[in-house]
Amino acid sequence: MQKKILITSALPYANGPLHFGHIAGAYLPADCYARFERLRGKDVLYICGSDEYGMAITMSADLAGRTPKEQADHFHEVNQEFFNHLGIKFDHFSRTTNEKHAPLVQQFFQDLHQNGFVQDKETEQLFSEADQRFLADRYVVGTCPKCGFEEARGDECGKCGASYESTDLKSPRSKMTGAPLVLKKTRHWFLLFDKFKEKLEPFISSRPWKSNVTNFASSYVEDIRPRAITRDLKWGVPVPLKEADGKVFYVWFDAPIGYISATQEWDSEAWKDYWCDPQTKYVQFIGKDNIPFHAIFFPAMIMGQNQPYKIVDDLVANEFYNLEGRQFSKSEGWTIDLNDFFSHFHADQIRYAIAANAPETSDSEFTWSDFQTRCNTELLGKLGNLVNRVLVFAQNKCAAKIPVQGELEEADHRFLNEINRLAAEIEESYSSYKLRRCSQLIMELAQTANVYFDAKTPWKDPKNETTIALCIQCLKALALASFPIIPQTAEKIWKMIGFQDSLESHTWKEILEMPLEGGKALPKPSILFQKIEDELIEQESAKLQQMHDQAMQKKEPPYAPLKEAITIDDFAKVDLRVGLILKAEKLPKSKKLLKLEVDLGFETRTLLSGISQHYSPEELIGKKVIIVANLKPATIMGVESQGMVLAGSLDKALELVTLENLPAGADIS
Ligand code: MF3
Ligand code: ZN
Repeated sequence: MQKKILITSALPYANGPLHFGHIAGAYLPADCYARFERLRGKDVLYICGSDEYGMAITMSADLAGRTPKEQADHFHEVNQEFFNHLGIKFDHFSRTTNEKHAPLVQQFFQDLHQNGFVQDKETEQLFSEADQRFLADRYVVGTCPKCGFEEARGDECGKCGASYESTDLKSPRSKMTGAPLVLKKTRHWFLLFDKFKEKLEPFISSRPWKSNVTNFASSYVEDIRPRAITRDLKWGVPVPLKEADGKVFYVWFDAPIGYISATQEWDSEAWKDYWCDPQTKYVQFIGKDNIPFHAIFFPAMIMGQNQPYKIVDDLVANEFYNLEGRQFSKSEGWTIDLNDFFSHFHADQIRYAIAANAPETSDSEFTWSDFQTRCNTELLGKLGNLVNRVLVFAQNKCAAKIPVQGELEEADHRFLNEINRLAAEIEESYSSYKLRRCSQLIMELAQTANVYFDAKTPWKDPKNETTIALCIQCLKALALASFPIIPQTAEKIWKMIGFQDSLESHTWKEILEMPLEGGKALPKPSILFQKIEDELIEQESAKLQQMHDQAMQKKEPPYAPLKEAITIDDFAKVDLRVGLILKAEKLPKSKKLLKLEVDLGFETRTLLSGISQHYSPEELIGKKVIIVANLKPATIMGVESQGMVLAGSLDKALELVTLENLPAGADIS
């Protein structure tokens, strides 16, 4: 029996539209791999679905004026449509609100609980007094406990990659309002991941993962701790315990179980053939930010429950794919309007552009100019031209038939060997998830044929039909090799070289070995790709910039939160005076500080002020500003500063508070 291959892609959150960044990470590579293994005759099952629970959904639903369910319904549709457009072909695309899901999640929990891997504990959680609710990690920012990065996220540091409990953050605050968060008591259930340490260590080191995944996972496991798997929230899978009334599971506990429940929904019997057969090869595709959940937590969850579910074999974790130098961001208008995109371009063009520049070993990005080059120089210039010149030649000079292959010369043998060598390398590259390499090799294959065609000059010798026969042979190999990445184009080539069925109905080996029928009629060739003109690319780049500018204008400036109330007496302690700036100079070695000499009427003071990036020394002289005159002196970079100058600031703007008429020394209150 053929080996079964179970493939999953990270379940996308149903709280916003997906973009090419997601596609490059977890979906296109998986789809190509699934298509490739199906072609090799393997029994492939490719599963995905929407990740619908979690506070992210409730928050974005609030903003959109929808219920969480409506929000999830909406983006479940939107994202499914997007996958369809791109030809991402799942065997089943489910969702975590599917009927099978909650019971399965509860089974996991009950098993883990009975097996002694769960413990409840009263904890202190971050609570927003203003909103009267606990804030999930995603809505908390603060200072990373590991590296000190001040904008670290609630569960994971964007700078050093550390993952932790949000309560470990220093100076936690609400991401939305900036309000400080307080710790408040609540009871939660913890999964004792530390109890799996001994099983996880050999598991991780025995997996054939890329070294960055293995290294990350093994260093993570060294210090693995219990983690809360419940939340105070209304939207989620209920925790099946009386004492846990009103609590739901943390989305990262329920979501990976969605891989299994989605498969159960696909087929209530056949799912077991994949999930419960140790012979199944299970390959997961994820973005690198999901590594701990797939390399450690989900495997531990499976180890600790009672069913014989498959644990991941290959874990393909891709890096990030950005857009023109920065992350895709809908709120910042840094994105591609997909309706617009698909009205100008073909799915195979973007699939190829992403594959050829896939973020396999480091972050990569979509740029309009790279897209244009890939499409024009590679897809059209190498592949499209080859197909066109060979088939037009066959139409005109070979009576629109596949020519009969004659005696082979040295160069013909070399060409055939090269086709086989490249096809074998492409096969090997697909099986090790190297899409970049595959794209390169496909272009090399096309180029080899272009060079062969030129060298053989068949146009000078119309009887040299062997050249054309071998070129068509190469087109067959190209259709095959490119099918996982550009399936529609590959099928088109397949039809243009005289086949009526679909390429997909044959296997890899069959297609490579299948001889061509000399004398078989060829249909009229059509053009595979249109040239992408410079104007169109310029328009698209300009549109991106425009959308971004608009979005940034609409964005609210980040107002500082209000401070605690004070009394009039508190305020009266501050002695404010009008000061006339007599001298100003840059403080050597300081980027921000200016040294000022200020006349207060009754005396002259030296002050340091961090305004050097906003004012030049010259323009300050003669200005009347407001000084905090009774501030205790402080020595900064060797200079004693005897007071403070008032200035207003918002975002990156700064302006001194100045007066026109009052004399220096006047009292302000
Ligand atoms: N929704 C998550 C994300 O987009 C991925 C969930 S993967 C699963 O980052 F394993 F939990 F399903
Ligand atoms: Zn950090």
